[in-house]
Amino acid sequence: MKMMLIAGARPNFMKIASLIEAIKTYNDTAKTPIYHILVHTGQHYDAQMSQAFFHDLGLPLPDIDLEVGSASHALQTAKIMQQFEPVLLAHCPDVVVVVGDVNSTLACALVAAKITYPLPAQRSRPLVAHVEAGLRSFDRYMPEEVNRMVTDALADILFVTEESAAENLQREGIPAEKMYFVGNTMVDTLLKHQRQAETSTILSRLGLHNYPYAVVTLHRPSNVDQRGTLQEIFEGLSVIAQHLPIIFPVHPRTMDRIKDFQLGQYCAFISPHTAVEVDRASICCLEPLGYLDFLCLMSHAKLVLTDSGGIQEETTMLGIPCITLRDSTERPITVTHGTNVLVGSRKEAIIHHALSQLHQPVALHRPRLWDGRAGERIIEILSHHVFHNTAKRITNMLASALAMS
Ligand code: UD1
Repeated sequence: MKMMLIAGARPNFMKIASLIEAIKTYNDTAKTPIYHILVHTGQHYDAQMSQAFFHDLGLPLPDIDLEVGSASHALQTAKIMQQFEPVLLAHCPDVVVVVGDVNSTLACALVAAKITYPLPAQRSRPLVAHVEAGLRSFDRYMPEEVNRMVTDALADILFVTEESAAENLQREGIPAEKMYFVGNTMVDTLLKHQRQAETSTILSRLGLHNYPYAVVTLHRPSNVDQRGTLQEIFEGLSVIAQHLPIIFPVHPRTMDRIKDFQLGQYCAFISPHTAVEVDRASICCLEPLGYLDFLCLMSHAKLVLTDSGGIQEETTMLGIPCITLRDSTERPITVTHGTNVLVGSRKEAIIHHALSQLHQPVALHRPRLWDGRAGERIIEILSHHVFHNTAKRITNMLASALAMS
């Protein structure tokens, strides 16, 4: 079986790492091994947004790098599609696996769903599998929501991380036989690397050992692309920083906006490479961290404030209180079962919830099937699908050959 795996942006790499690990395990015992081809679209390309993750997660180098880089949504999606099509035609995989909800996910799913392979002996097109299907924020102004809806409409096989996602798909008319509740590949990777992350030196480099601190991440256009909103968030964070230092690894999009809007006065810029004593009452901004450093930092935090989807899930697994600076989440299980509270981006709400979370005990509830084995389930299911499809194709070919003779 030939499987093509697509990764493009930071949160994709953790999900792909789980699948590659599961393929290795599967190949140890399988009669017919899976041959995988890793395609990196190049949507994220900075060393700290891409290579650092390959290194930390022990990922093989991509077999193909489309090197598309940054652009507007339309242009980036179009560039990925244009460059992915010849790659797909050259390799003719049985399955294309896309993960998450970034532009690379949508672009590659769309190409794969419409391709026709040149050789009649092969499948006419690959199966398209979507990992992390069915999540809905019900906010169509989020680019990711559009990516999720279109990818799910195109996919042949949909793997879901929580029950609400299956309900969403059912409501949208996706037949039940296409859906599989398998757990969470992001969680597979977290559980696998948790111990290794404890060897990270990030806490000693920042002088944070045994010291309470909060972690912040922000990159959603709705939070960072308007000066007023970003300033309001910084004002809220400044008040929280009077109670405990804030460590803020800054996404490149957000760093650009801080500069454009001249909001640098709220930030103390520090380097994670040299030992520094963090200023106890400030928002300490640093470059994006690799996977292991960030996992270590998050695991020991008193509190995480974020607008990321993946971090809502990771804090739920770690039992760290999570304040989400959004009005909606596509991952409701992190609120109903996890540590997540949605607070929006008004400073009063951010301050109130952050300070009250500091003093509340956190109960740890692990969502169903978030057990570190989602990748294995996905690979097992995909191997059955491809086997079944191949058998059906051979039967059809034999039947038509017999009819002609
Ligand atoms: C993308 C995803 C988002 C995901 C996030 C994780 C889409 C629509 N958005 O958002 O779902 O949560 O990644 O980080 O796919 N940039 C760099 N270096 C890089 C990458 C980006 O400097 O390696 C800068 C560029 O100025 C770029 C901007 O960041 O224009 C935004 O990057 P882009 O990939 O368009 O969107 P993200 O905000 O990263």
